[in-house]
Amino acid sequence: MNSSPWWKEATIYQIYPRSFFDSNGDGEGDLPGITSKLDYVKSLGVDAIWLSPFYTSPNKDGGYDVANPRDVDPRFGNLEDARELITQAHKRDLRVIADIVPNHFSDQHKWFQAALKAKRGSKERERFHFYDANEDGTPPNNWISLFGGPSWTQVEDGQFYLHLFDSTQPDLNWENPEVNADFEKTLRFWIDLGVDGFRIDVAHGLIKEDVLTNHPDPQGLSNALRLDVAMDSDKRNALLLTVPYFDRQGVHEIYRKWRKLFDSYTGREIMAVAEAWVHPPVNATRYVRADELHQVFNFDLLTAEFDSDVLFDVVERSISLNATVNALPTWALSNHDSPRVASRIGDEQARALALFVFGLPGSAYVFAGQELGLPDGQLQDSDRQDPTFFRTNGAIKGRDGARVPLPWGGDTKPFGFSTAKPWLPISQSWKDFTIENELADPKSSLHLYKNALELRKEFLVGAGGITWLESSQHGHKSDSLLSYSRGAITVVMNLSDSAKECDAEGKLLIVSGGTVDARDGKKVIPARSTAWFLT
Ligand code: GLC
Ligand code: CA
Repeated sequence: MNSSPWWKEATIYQIYPRSFFDSNGDGEGDLPGITSKLDYVKSLGVDAIWLSPFYTSPNKDGGYDVANPRDVDPRFGNLEDARELITQAHKRDLRVIADIVPNHFSDQHKWFQAALKAKRGSKERERFHFYDANEDGTPPNNWISLFGGPSWTQVEDGQFYLHLFDSTQPDLNWENPEVNADFEKTLRFWIDLGVDGFRIDVAHGLIKEDVLTNHPDPQGLSNALRLDVAMDSDKRNALLLTVPYFDRQGVHEIYRKWRKLFDSYTGREIMAVAEAWVHPPVNATRYVRADELHQVFNFDLLTAEFDSDVLFDVVERSISLNATVNALPTWALSNHDSPRVASRIGDEQARALALFVFGLPGSAYVFAGQELGLPDGQLQDSDRQDPTFFRTNGAIKGRDGARVPLPWGGDTKPFGFSTAKPWLPISQSWKDFTIENELADPKSSLHLYKNALELRKEFLVGAGGITWLESSQHGHKSDSLLSYSRGAITVVMNLSDSAKECDAEGKLLIVSGGTVDARDGKKVIPARSTAWFLT
């Protein structure tokens, strides 16, 4: 029996509740909708689900603007529905990870409403970051929100409050012990309801220092911090080294306290994964020191080019840095904030990369719809809901393309997602991507994911580290192959546009596209494809 904790090498399926399945015909996905589709989720071979926020929220930022973190928003159901979802997931041996948002509340949270009514310097305002205007009336500093526009909004008496995101998402003041006490209450609330772990939103942002210091290129920095804005990697990395409001030392004290809270639930193996995009990359490992959190997202694959040198560096660095703190890496190709991987690098490449990372040590995160090979939804500007689109006057289109609801079946849109008009339109061209269609087609992306996850469980979970066989650093042929062996499996990815021979031995287990031929005793890997061999 495998005695390592459940999350160590899990595959975790991210569900964006509003886009998964609508159970009551209002055009928006909901918790009972997710519960009704758990058999599908289980059939993928994943170990856990991560639910993006479903808490009470005016929904100005897709629910990441939380007005009551200990209740369910009526658009998603109620607390009983949450309890039932957890119970049904556990019945199927699926763990449940809730998404917690500690960096900010919604402006509709009772604390912020009280702060607006209270005076400058009051204890109500001390829970947020309220500052006086500069003498010339300008905001306290020049920071640009990650969604565009100033990071400050002025209230009636002339003070400004800080919001790294939308103006409806005031940042909390984590120097105030009341804030931590309230969050610990929230963590306990959900653990008591049955959740098995947390994804911590903006985990690197809670402690603010240098709040009154200007940044030399605030707009460039704001763009660099967005996963949906393309930017040259060197330029991005240089800017990311200068963030004044993320990754301060104080955040680690918070997670040390939380870890004690998690561990106090003996026998439960409560885990937490940090959304902490920090630079230099070595800093990410601090979040997963033995007395802090269990995992930290690796964002590199969400922006990396389909290039052997780039991918080699990302994989090698992530494994080796995590090893310094005895942790395993995480891998994600898509999430609700980034373009879908099939649109970003191409559909064959996306399948190849998925099969490549499913072989690696650590946990793999799969964003719902990724298993179908879904592209970004094609939207009109009038459909868009992401605050970024509005705050940049349309200059940045935002993240809605990745959030279009899932196509379940049938021949006409919205393909079984809802009996009503979906909250974001699904295009008729998604007919081939429905779960029903892909289940019927053994060559579909869906079957690739199911087969790969089954093989991953059978041969790779717990199989230890990798040995590189081909890369520009380790190999001998070209820069078109990346290959490693792990346990009994050899994984070979051909990144080029033509078939390539390789020396891999053993029996072919799975290939992400095309067929693997033999030539003069060598295996021929199709273009833009990954294959696994059992030796
Ligand atoms: C995280 C979430 C993103 C949200 C932001 C503000 O980055 O993933 O969706 O907009 O935090 O809460
Ligand atoms: Ca609904």
